[in-house]
Amino acid sequence: PRSQDRPGLLLAWYDLHRRRLPWRALPGKAVDPYFVWLSEIMLQQTTVKAVGPYFEKFLARWPDVDAMARASLDDVLRMWAGLGYYSRARNLHACAVAVRRDHGGTFPDTEEGLHALPGIGPYTAAAIAAIAFGRRTMPVDGNIERVVSRLFAVEEALPKAKPRIRELAATLLGPSRSGDVKTRAGRDGKSRAGDGKSRAGDSAQALMDLGATICTPKKPACALCPLSDDCAARLRGDPETFPRKAKK
Ligand code: ADE
Repeated sequence: PRSQDRPGLLLAWYDLHRRRLPWRALPGKAVDPYFVWLSEIMLQQTTVKAVGPYFEKFLARWPDVDAMARASLDDVLRMWAGLGYYSRARNLHACAVAVRRDHGGTFPDTEEGLHALPGIGPYTAAAIAAIAFGRRTMPVDGNIERVVSRLFAVEEALPKAKPRIRELAATLLGPSRSGDVKTRAGRDGKSRAGDGKSRAGDSAQALMDLGATICTPKKPACALCPLSDDCAARLRGDPETFPRKAKK
């Protein structure tokens, strides 16, 4: 049945319709974890549109995490001016310093290791782990919550529905790349069992793009959606009424 191939339909759509954003690698190219981290911190409370120029400006000044770690906090704060929520800038600098001092200038490649760093909460740790390192985990933000709650017509209201939505969101991850675990472990000798790479980052960013461009809060463009055939909310005829929200 079609519903079993949601992960495949989603990735096929992403391959054709992904937004070209400055922090995303060109198709087929490896992404730089520094780009992913910097963009995810900036995107925590700021729109994609507003982040763009800041992201470019930061990269031009500090091309890698080591360079940012050697900058002064004041310089980082000055460059951040206008983005708001300045604790993010303080944590950004503290994180760069920690990566340089404690990790030899290389970001940890697990959700756990990332979460231990300044400014990286559970959502951002999952986003970086999936996008930069192919860890099979789904970061769930407001856009993804909306897409998933519609796809499965989740009746429970937010915020109580969050654990259920996270569980359903994880079903949209594609498989690990089969064979990869074994061959990688054999070659570099340091891979652990079960750490196979996946396209989890593309699956997550596909849902973000769907939420931003098609599965919008008002008047979703279901005719353009790759998952509309078995979207429970669309079939009911009231996609806009999801996600359900607890009355204030
Ligand atoms: N919002 C948060 N992370 C994002 C990403 N990687 N792409 C688009 N929007 C995002």
